[in-house]
Amino acid sequence: MKGISRLRRFASFGMTVVLALALAACEQSHPNTTFTPHSDYGRSIDFLWDRLLLLGTIVFVLVEAGILYIVFRYRKREGDQPPPQTHGNVVIEIFWTLIPAFILLFIAVPTVRTIFKTQAQAVAGALQIEVTGHQWWWEFRYPEYGIITANEIYIPTGRTVNFKLTSVDVIHSFWTPQLGGKRDAVTNRTNYIWLTPDSTLKPSEWNGFCTEYCGTSHAKMRFRVFTVKPDQFASWVANQQKPAAIGAVAPAAAPAVINTANASTVAYTFPRNQPEFDYAVPHTPIPDGMTFTKGLTGNAHRGQQVFSSNACIGCHAIAGNPAAVGNIGPNLTHFGSRATIGAGSFPNTPAYLALWIKNARVMKPGILMPTLGKDQFDPVVKQKVTAGGLDDQQIADIVAYLTTLK
Ligand code: CUA
Repeated sequence: MKGISRLRRFASFGMTVVLALALAACEQSHPNTTFTPHSDYGRSIDFLWDRLLLLGTIVFVLVEAGILYIVFRYRKREGDQPPPQTHGNVVIEIFWTLIPAFILLFIAVPTVRTIFKTQAQAVAGALQIEVTGHQWWWEFRYPEYGIITANEIYIPTGRTVNFKLTSVDVIHSFWTPQLGGKRDAVTNRTNYIWLTPDSTLKPSEWNGFCTEYCGTSHAKMRFRVFTVKPDQFASWVANQQKPAAIGAVAPAAAPAVINTANASTVAYTFPRNQPEFDYAVPHTPIPDGMTFTKGLTGNAHRGQQVFSSNACIGCHAIAGNPAAVGNIGPNLTHFGSRATIGAGSFPNTPAYLALWIKNARVMKPGILMPTLGKDQFDPVVKQKVTAGGLDDQQIADIVAYLTTLK
């Protein structure tokens, strides 16, 4: 029959399109996919997904095939009499109750098993990391090592990490797609999620997200997870435990603000600018109208003084700087070692940092960090910053200071 062969051709074309789209969506190189898990937790979820997809597909194909068969086999033909009418059939009813119950059993057992596994307490000896959601950044504390940092987590491969999640304001959600998750960070409540990065992983960088809408800059509440080898982790920890120091820079020869020469540090930090991890480099455009005086040279020691005698210290703590003890904003002790600013909003380079300090409220709408640049328009209080505003040279000095805090 001509109609049916045309239908068949159309159906096979449709299937090809659907399959191609499905395969494209699962491509391995997608950095935020959950289909290439790199932890035990991620694999548990992935296994469950595969199992449900398989069972769901079998049910779908059988049911649709049955429907199509009946539609064509029993469609109305000329001269048909109404079929015999039946009311109630105990045998059929028992069957169509038992079959779904049987299918649900196959779905329920692995589901419940995975729920119990992923909700269980982390193994003893797990690395504890306290995660606090803020509008819109992440605070990370390693109580075992006395480290406080922000928007970046280093974790060693092969060791279970237990994240203890809470929030200081609204509900956030903590998610690193390739490692596993996600779980809410809720005010006045503590949630936990644990995972063990595969011990075979080479040092890698992963995108992390807030996945619960939490206000204006929800989309800019990101973080980075660095899975590194245990010895690299130990080196990172040792450095993070030290108070901040301007050590690497001589007072008279502070680095230039734009294009600061990276003072090399002995301690391990994840190497920047690796093409393989380009997906972790933010590409947020600079908002219109943001400019900074070209060619200024910052002085780190002067910057420390400006930082320590301005509003900065009310919100930011820097271990080693006795004036800076605020805890409203991110701890900046080793700010220079971080890859991004503004919770994954911009690359941590002097050029972006200068604009950030000048007018953070334009760079990332809605944030608490005030507009600091002299004559800059503060979009929250809706007026220009005049008295007490920082000029570009002062900002360049602060940039030089913060950049040296490796
Ligand atoms: Cu925090 Cu969305």
